[in-house]
Amino acid sequence: MNEQRVSEILTRYQGDSSSIIAILQDIQEDFSYLPPPVLKIISHELGIPLSRILSLATFYKAFSLKPKGKHRIHVCLGTACHVRGAQRIIEKFERDLGIKSGETSADREFSLDAVRCIGCCGLAPVVMIGEDVHGKVTQTKIPGLLKKYKK
Ligand code: FES
Repeated sequence: MNEQRVSEILTRYQGDSSSIIAILQDIQEDFSYLPPPVLKIISHELGIPLSRILSLATFYKAFSLKPKGKHRIHVCLGTACHVRGAQRIIEKFERDLGIKSGETSADREFSLDAVRCIGCCGLAPVVMIGEDVHGKVTQTKIPGLLKKYKK
């Protein structure tokens, strides 16, 4: 199953090893992380040492070697959001999800990460869930937000 999905991605790039970053991006999108067994297949198919692929995977923040949740929550901790209580917002998510920032919930529904300014400072404090931007988030809104995405 994995082999077929990987082979489809490699075919897209005609097995071109110089497209390794784009290939890893597609794998990340398809699997929602970079599964180590898949990286081994890529290493073998493209003739790139696994150590080189792992160093790329750890260098770029967009890549994750651990499974991410179905819904990715990004809490902005940039200056404008920070002064409007973003720290309390991320702590509320941590409490409600039972995880720390950088982790994924046990049911794999949510992952939680802190980010720096996402460019909507006027809406501070800002949270992104998937592609959706939520502005002026308060602690009391968080349970409702989680419920909405979990359904
Ligand atoms: S500081 Fe949070 S959106 Fe700019």
